[in-house]
Amino acid sequence: MSTAPGYQSPTVTVSASLPKRAGGSVLIVPVATGDDDQARVVANPFLDAAAVGEIEGALKALGAKGGADQTTRAVAASLPFASVLAVGLGKAREEWSQEAVRRAAGVAARALSGTESVVTTLSELDVAAAVEGLILGSYRFADFRSTKTAPKDAPLAKITALATAKSAKTEAVRGTDVATAVATARDLVNTPPSHLFPDEFAKRARALGESVGLRVEILDEKGLEKGGYGGIVGVGKGSSRPPRLVRLTHAGGSRKSKKVALIGKGITFDTGGISIKPAANMHHMTSDMGGAAAVIATVVLAAKQQLPIDVVATVPMAENMPSATAQRPGDVLTQYGGITVEVLNTDAEGRLILADAIVRACEDDPDYLIETSTLTGAQTVALGSRTPGVMGSDAFRDRVATTSQAIGENAWAMPLPDELKDDLKSTVADLANVSGSRYAGMLVAGVFLREFVADGVQWAHIDVAAPAYNTGGPWGYTGKGGTGVPVRTMFAVLEDIAKNG
Ligand code: BES
Ligand code: ZN
Ligand code: MN
Repeated sequence: MSTAPGYQSPTVTVSASLPKRAGGSVLIVPVATGDDDQARVVANPFLDAAAVGEIEGALKALGAKGGADQTTRAVAASLPFASVLAVGLGKAREEWSQEAVRRAAGVAARALSGTESVVTTLSELDVAAAVEGLILGSYRFADFRSTKTAPKDAPLAKITALATAKSAKTEAVRGTDVATAVATARDLVNTPPSHLFPDEFAKRARALGESVGLRVEILDEKGLEKGGYGGIVGVGKGSSRPPRLVRLTHAGGSRKSKKVALIGKGITFDTGGISIKPAANMHHMTSDMGGAAAVIATVVLAAKQQLPIDVVATVPMAENMPSATAQRPGDVLTQYGGITVEVLNTDAEGRLILADAIVRACEDDPDYLIETSTLTGAQTVALGSRTPGVMGSDAFRDRVATTSQAIGENAWAMPLPDELKDDLKSTVADLANVSGSRYAGMLVAGVFLREFVADGVQWAHIDVAAPAYNTGGPWGYTGKGGTGVPVRTMFAVLEDIAKNG
């Protein structure tokens, strides 16, 4: 199964002029609501006044006003397209954010499900954002459908992005690479726990890493035991499918450039262990490797885009199961590096495998460390289903949050109050893995992780418990299931570090 097909991204071509013959393609045109409350075609050096007039006339007749996320299909007889899809951006303005373009492109792609070829002028607003939105909006996951329910219509295969900017080609490649990385993370999250268990996950990480020339190291259960990875071993020992630790290295930097460590939680399924979860919605825990999937996709993307920095991903993988060999509430384990932890709740397993990975990653002396995980239900209570929480060292945490907001994943900075550490006191070990209090669960997890970060490393912990997995309806460029969050945040931070140190 390690060569599972997954999602095939469409091919993207850039052109500076409208094609003369467009076969069965649909033309995607962004529109905004003008002062007269009518839909107006936006940013369009490709269509002449007659074509614009024809489209706006059709939209007026259909009652389309260009509101955000509104799509309207129309026929424009003077144009060489089967039809036109107008996608609304909202009230007319001078400039549109990248995220507005990305969301409109995603909405358009979903409205055009079953269309094989599109030509878009959204790319004149922002090439990379338009390409990302189109690819991610057309994402589908059909690996486990037999002919009985396999989608009958073809997936989107060809995107022609119309753009006049000099950098359009580079930006289109960048957008394609970024969207493909997000789709890879989604594929991994959407693969069910029956088929994605630690050994299989590690093999897929290896295949992905080797395809772009990364150095790959994998520790199996014997190596983990011997190496003293007590957290990963402890969590993994309830399962018949043993744990792994995967390391993927992109050596793109020079002696002067910064080194970044990425870490992602790879619980391939979280039953809670002996502290078992209630049955309702337990199947959502197929997403408990969303952090790992995002980190793997991000380091692969860094290599593909040849970022001139070193990036090392350290990815612990385990299945959290109850069984006769499982760890018990009250057990004490020794984390990699020697800190002892009393496991008061086996459902707080993520922090145990992450602590080992953080200590291991810090041995490489990184300048920055970004860790991401579906760590706490408390993230959802505090911030809802679409807003990741970022904790860590103040300056770097704020940089990650600001960057995430700029690219539309919208992570929000949260504190790590010192007094919460008192709640993690154990009567027998250095630390307990949970506090006795019901409050600030997301922050308590962050405070636990902080104990394992080496001095001098600027670090950020991104809790994506809900944002990594959409259990609601589709919106923008996000469908149901795996979202690929926070691949774009992490990649944007890496790009920023490559540029500014
Ligand atoms: N994987 C869960 C967190 C989670 C919950 C992710 C909902 C996605 C959606 C994590 O391992 C967990 O069980 N956390 C516990 C921690 C508690 C025992 C301190 C939680 O949040 O309840
Ligand atoms: Zn978990
Ligand atoms: Mn858990």
